[in-house]
Amino acid sequence: MPKTIRRTATPLLAITAALLVARAARADEPGPGGTKAPVPVTGEQVYKTVCQSCHMADGRGAEGAGRMPALASNPRLAAAAYPIVMIAKGRGAMPGFVGTLSPAQAANVVGYIRTHFGNNFAAPVTEADVAKLYGVPPAAER
Ligand code: HEC
Repeated sequence: MPKTIRRTATPLLAITAALLVARAARADEPGPGGTKAPVPVTGEQVYKTVCQSCHMADGRGAEGAGRMPALASNPRLAAAAYPIVMIAKGRGAMPGFVGTLSPAQAANVVGYIRTHFGNNFAAPVTEADVAKLYGVPPAAER
């Protein structure tokens, strides 16, 4: 993406993210129909809500209409920056999630996939680590 577009798109995405969070918070209020979709917070919740549909519940991915790579026992997750950039920018058939996942949600899910499904990369991933690669400052600096 050309630099000029990125510069203008980033604040817009931050606003979109804030609006999504606000809308999700309102959706939690009981109302007619009464079903509320809780906002995913933990890595496991984010994985199950967002990633599992493509990468499968066991993280083994799938071959079908497209190839969904396995996250299970995946040495590429050793460097946390790799999954962070994947989530931020997407690649091929995987969408980027800046604007839909907050840096905190992204940090939690990266921590989760790096320590589950046979992966054992224990070094914690912080919201600040994500924010650096994500183009959105962590909540505390906003
Ligand atoms: C719409 C389907 C889809 C969703 C949703 C999705 N992914 Fe992906 N993911 C893919 C595809 C397809 C690729 C392979 C992209 C390529 O290399 O062209 C991929 C690749 C990856 C890779 C790189 C794997 C490797 O070995 O190179 C990681 C890490 C990853 N995804 C993590 C996640 C996480 C974490 C989430 C949830 C936040 C997620 N993905 C959500 C489809 C998806």
